[in-house]
Amino acid sequence: MDLKDKSILITGGTGSLGKALTKHILNYNSDIKRLVIFSRDEQKQFAMAQDFPADKFPQLRFFIGDVRDEARVKRALKGIDYVIHAAAMKHVPIAEYNPMECVKTNIMGAENIINACLETDVERVVALSTDKAAAPINLYGATKLASDKLFVAANNITGWNPIKFSVVRYGNVMGSNGSVIPFFLKKKKEGVLPITEPTMTRFNISLQGGVDMVMHALEHAWGGEIFVPKIPSYKIMDIAEAIGPECEKAVVGIRPGEKIHEEMITDSDSYYTYDLGKYYTILPSTHKWKLEDFIEKFNAKKVKPGFQYNSGQNEEWDSVENLRDLIKEHVDPTFEV
Ligand SMILES: NC(=O)c1ccc[n+]([C@@H]2O[C@H](COP(=O)([O-])OP(=O)(O)OC[C@H]3O[C@@H](n4cnc5c(N)ncnc54)[C@H](OP(=O)(O)O)[C@@H]3O)[C@@H](O)[C@H]2O)c1
Repeated sequence: MDLKDKSILITGGTGSLGKALTKHILNYNSDIKRLVIFSRDEQKQFAMAQDFPADKFPQLRFFIGDVRDEARVKRALKGIDYVIHAAAMKHVPIAEYNPMECVKTNIMGAENIINACLETDVERVVALSTDKAAAPINLYGATKLASDKLFVAANNITGWNPIKFSVVRYGNVMGSNGSVIPFFLKKKKEGVLPITEPTMTRFNISLQGGVDMVMHALEHAWGGEIFVPKIPSYKIMDIAEAIGPECEKAVVGIRPGEKIHEEMITDSDSYYTYDLGKYYTILPSTHKWKLEDFIEKFNAKKVKPGFQYNSGQNEEWDSVENLRDLIKEHVDPTFEV
């Protein structure tokens, strides 16, 4: 995507996805005007500034702020063309225990971003979502579903402003902060891998896969789409076997708010879902553009009524061997079994 002379802001820019996006954008778009990292914790920003030194990356700026603070968000968005909204509370048990904190960050924060974007000159906004937002059973997923709805509906209140809001939804990101692979790599040293439920499956995407889907949405969204990449699933027992074949696998029981299989597209979503080859897109029920134009432009094929995209019924699976290669490639280059 050509980002020459554009200014981009990433909320949650110090997180797993934010850093991967920063690396990608600075590597491929050194002619951008500004790339602003927006987040709360000065220590994370300080550490990130060491990884991306100012003499090498003069376009990179750091801005302390909380997405709950609309005035601060608005200040940060002055002069910004594109926004990638990745800031979130994302830990299921923490959200269950502190529900209003998760509501404030994930829902009120989303609303603040939308309002601030509409009042400044932002042209495009891509918000990050999760498979846990489809038919949610935990508060994290429910807040992300509410956030998705806010971003999709924001396209209805833009008036003559050509701004476009879209959403990217995907599953577990390999090696991201707090995810199962780094957890098992740590537990391997103790000889026991805790398994909450042996039949569990999850969608699997690399950080680079996530970055690619976000960049695609930023470039191609018409407004209101929820982009869903086609990605493989893994069985939790295969991840355990890939990392610690010698370890005891201790079944500890399912955690509150955990599903056995995740869904990215529910059967109810199927009536609005189109297959675009490398990915699906769930279209909004109302849109300013013509559906026939969209279908023709992207060669979009409507999925069958009742279609579901579920990690337990996926057609593509990561095997134990395949997972070992992926862990070496994307998480820990020194990984050996
Ligand atoms: N990782 C996954 O497996 C996965 C899967 C699907 C979707 N997602 C979605 O992808 C997005 C990014 O996830 P990630 O894995 O990169 O998360 P992460 O590593 O936990 O990073 C979260 C980022 O958000 C910032 N943040 C949190 N609360 C904030 C607030 N109130 N105001 C401003 N910044 C705030 C954090 O910095 P400070 O704490 O310093 O503010 C950090 O930079 C999230 O929206 C998540 O829901 C992630």
